[in-house]
Amino acid sequence: MMKQNMVFIVFLIQNIAFVNQLKTRTDVHSESFKSHIRDYSRLMEDLHRSLDHVMAGGGATAVSRHTERGKLLARSRIEKLLDPGTPFLEFSTLAANGQYDDAFPGAGIVTGAGIISGHEVIIIANDATVKGGTYVRETIAKHVRAQEIALNNHLPVVYLVDSGGVFLPDQARVFPDKEDFGRLFYHQARMSAMSLHQVSIVMGSCTAGGAYVPAMSDETIIVRDQGTIFIGGPPLVKAATGEEVTAEELGGGRVHTQISGVADHLAENDDHALEICRNLFSSIPKKQKYPLDTTAPEPPLYDPQELYGIAPLDLKKTIDPREIIMRLTDGSRFHEFKKEYGPTLVTGFARLMGYPVGILANYGVLDSAAALKGSHFVQLCQSRKMPIIFLQHISGFVVGKKWEHDGLAKHGAKFIHAVANANVPRFTIIFGGSFGAGNYAMSGRAFEPNLLFMWPNARISVMGGEQAAGVLTSVKVQQMNKQGKEVNQKEIDTIREKILKQYKHESSAYYSTSRLWDDGIIDPAETRNILAMGISMALNKPFGQMKNGVFRM
Ligand code: COA
Repeated sequence: MMKQNMVFIVFLIQNIAFVNQLKTRTDVHSESFKSHIRDYSRLMEDLHRSLDHVMAGGGATAVSRHTERGKLLARSRIEKLLDPGTPFLEFSTLAANGQYDDAFPGAGIVTGAGIISGHEVIIIANDATVKGGTYVRETIAKHVRAQEIALNNHLPVVYLVDSGGVFLPDQARVFPDKEDFGRLFYHQARMSAMSLHQVSIVMGSCTAGGAYVPAMSDETIIVRDQGTIFIGGPPLVKAATGEEVTAEELGGGRVHTQISGVADHLAENDDHALEICRNLFSSIPKKQKYPLDTTAPEPPLYDPQELYGIAPLDLKKTIDPREIIMRLTDGSRFHEFKKEYGPTLVTGFARLMGYPVGILANYGVLDSAAALKGSHFVQLCQSRKMPIIFLQHISGFVVGKKWEHDGLAKHGAKFIHAVANANVPRFTIIFGGSFGAGNYAMSGRAFEPNLLFMWPNARISVMGGEQAAGVLTSVKVQQMNKQGKEVNQKEIDTIREKILKQYKHESSAYYSTSRLWDDGIIDPAETRNILAMGISMALNKPFGQMKNGVFRM
């Protein structure tokens, strides 16, 4: 009897696994798939070229000047700080890409999440080879965004300080506004009040406002004869008071660890400073993570590398997002919800690296049924306390009289309410186009997902270039008609061409990532690993309850 029961249970488990297992319709041996892979490999080459440019920092001369001073480069510092063999999830690597004549690779700062002595930690490291590690607008945005990720996930922060502070010629773009330089210190105070540990390692200059980074940290390490902290540097002191003083006498390691008390540990060199920091974290008690019901991770049945042959290159085309889902989830399983209803939004439950997740993915424009289904599904994820993954390839909400009469606006509103108020971790991957209010409903940047990444083929703008060109040219024609003028086709064509060109440039993933509208452009094949790291980080903060506002029924 017992044996029969066991056989039945095994049969049941196998059957459930089979029922939920997605089956691909992609012929990976077809010529069209292979040609798609070839086209995508060109996008990947562009991505690697851009990343290589950032990895080279401020160029060969600046790098050798830096290392000749006995200093480690920003990325080597991070590598030595992390537990050996553990990954580093870097954010916004291509910030400031294509701006400032490319003189600020990576915006002169490296940020990301990694593990130090078993603690998940956010790291913010100045790259002093890039204009002395000074801050332009994107440097600040990147620093502030990393702090925001720490705040949203309840993570400690380590600052590897080596910076000349504000990039002075750009002061009007970096100093006074809410999200400008002052925000760094505001965040530090708020994090400290939340008992999120902050440690600074001063490995170079730390001047003016920048001096508050170590001064506001819980603990500060400074490197002897290398790190300096002062509110005003020697030239400013001379100008203001006439006092002549060297940087070391004014605010070097010995001054701050023996006289002022602004720093706590004196290190002999970079390696020693990083070792002190690792030791310090080993003495901090580890936090209990939010207890998700996890299982042993299982690879997808279909190879994530096949995503290069699936990611949409022609963004006017919809693709079945299940082809992507099956290359992300454990065993390629997906327990689909409301499959036949509102089919332009695919929703369902899965496991990703053992974590339970809810997934929403676009399969065309959002209509009323899809919006209602999305609202229902988000509430389900909230009620089951599951992280949510949004897979965006959306041209927007459907338009037309039928849909306006159907109350599309009120149904879309419910979806947007649900997404904004969901109090479980949310992650957004833009795998195709991200246009119009579809961007918002699918947990776009304004809706504060925990992390948002783009694939290299992705595009983002208020609407597609062709649609924008269509709207603007028809406005122009109406305007000319009102003035009783003849429609000049050449003028219309010029407007159209100009808009198309502008939208092509401004909608690219590179334009977006340069301005910190996302947390980075990622390799599609790495999506699963990146999402798993994001979920792991998010478990440092307890999941909350959802409180909805008024749903217009
Ligand atoms: N604003 C704008 N540019 C700055 C700068 C600042 N605050 N600090 C440094 N730079 C630029 C330099 O002009 C130089 O540019 P270049 O490569 O185009 O020639 C580059 O950064 C490197 O500076 P350099 O002085 O050659 O490098 P260094 O490693 O010897 O020294 C600093 C780096 C940061 C210690 C030093 O430049 C310095 O003290 N800067 C002023 C810091 C300051 O007073 N900041 C107050 C801002 S609130």
